[in-house]
Amino acid sequence: MIKFSNDFVWGTATSSYQIEGAHNIDGKGPSIWDAFCTIPNRIKNGDNANEAIDHYHNYKEDVALLKSQGFTAYRFSISWSRIMPEGKGKINEEGIQFYNNLIDELLANDITPWVTLYHWDLPLALQMENDGWLNPDIACYFEAYAKVCFKHFGDRVKNWITLNEPWVVSILGYGQGVFAPGRVSNSEPYLVGHHLLLAHAHAVNLYKTEFAHQNGIIGITNNCDWREPLTDKPEDIEAAQRALLFFIGWFADPIYLGDYPKVMKDRLGDRLPKFTVDEKKLIKNSSDFFGLNHYTTMYAAQDDNKGVKSSVYGNGGISEDQDVLLTQDESWPLTEFNWAVVPWGCYKLLDWISKRYNNPDIYITENGFACDDKLENGKVNDTDRLDYYRQYLEACHKAIENGIKLKGYFAWSLFDNFEWASGYSIRFGINYIDYKTMERIPKASANWFKEAIKNKGW
Ligand code: GAL
Repeated sequence: MIKFSNDFVWGTATSSYQIEGAHNIDGKGPSIWDAFCTIPNRIKNGDNANEAIDHYHNYKEDVALLKSQGFTAYRFSISWSRIMPEGKGKINEEGIQFYNNLIDELLANDITPWVTLYHWDLPLALQMENDGWLNPDIACYFEAYAKVCFKHFGDRVKNWITLNEPWVVSILGYGQGVFAPGRVSNSEPYLVGHHLLLAHAHAVNLYKTEFAHQNGIIGITNNCDWREPLTDKPEDIEAAQRALLFFIGWFADPIYLGDYPKVMKDRLGDRLPKFTVDEKKLIKNSSDFFGLNHYTTMYAAQDDNKGVKSSVYGNGGISEDQDVLLTQDESWPLTEFNWAVVPWGCYKLLDWISKRYNNPDIYITENGFACDDKLENGKVNDTDRLDYYRQYLEACHKAIENGIKLKGYFAWSLFDNFEWASGYSIRFGINYIDYKTMERIPKASANWFKEAIKNKGW
């Protein structure tokens, strides 16, 4: 039987735009996702999260569900434009009140809040008036916003995540243009990534100085798939390594090793901004833990056929800079999102991170499985998802046994919710949402988690 230690953190995760709804009430300002969803053909079926699953009004019921399912930690994000409608300046007290209520409700139910400051929903005003993450000033705006959060919530919130997946913000938002703000470029992603890192570091510095008395921990969450060399040819091994460095090394190397990976500098030249000596100091060691969102694995091979690239990640600041061809193995089961189920990839990634970054505390802040769940006789029997969780948690357990300091795991996601460009067509939740009645219906996986957490194993 697999057992996790008593202090292992078990949680689920969500994000503000994907669940809150209430997009234009009680003083909330618009975000780039509110705007992006109004552009025709950007989101599957023309969906948006104006109402989403209306967590804003149902938070008590949602916390009760978390509690009933045995989770002792909950990762959610704050909507910047709910508490600062224009991204800077004026504070919206009703927004502050909402998060105060949510935090208090969690604590009253013995659930520890893990709060992400930025999960992609930038205040629209900062995009329109200041060019969003392209503008170096964004670091100051983010720091000021973080200050409002630390000040109002930091007496009770002791686990902070500055940014969710800067890679996605940079590549999907500014490289491929499939996520807000929908820009397409092969240089902007690197500038955006640079500003994201600086924003993160400024917020952490503020927390570690002005708010040190709050005695919490703060870090960043990066996403990464595993890249397995397609063959044991040296060029494929090197390609897989390069792909990892362009993926997670991009954001983790500056934090743990003090600068961007050499391979990125060599290949990108002037398109990769440079940190000043002071900036390097500010960024280095600016994460108390390694937040990791991990879902899948791909083979990586040296791409000699310049021009023919992965159909999965296309171009826009990723493939053409790396000369890596990504493929999947036909034998790997696929999720509804076409992400392959490869639990050993999770183990290998944890091992790689641990070795490269000197064995940091790691929290898996997202891991989950999309499938075409159907309600049958009032139940959802999501056995494939359950298998996924079981296998990935087995990989996590093996990592812990081998000395990797994995301290916690957050399942993505507590609910089915607005899955960005896929709208509501993709379901990741361990609780099913009936989008007509908004009823929350636990799936088999939720019940499995309940048992696993109760026994700290299964
Ligand atoms: C992550 C993201 C989540 C969720 C998940 C599944 O990249 O942080 O918001 O959408 O992927 O696609």
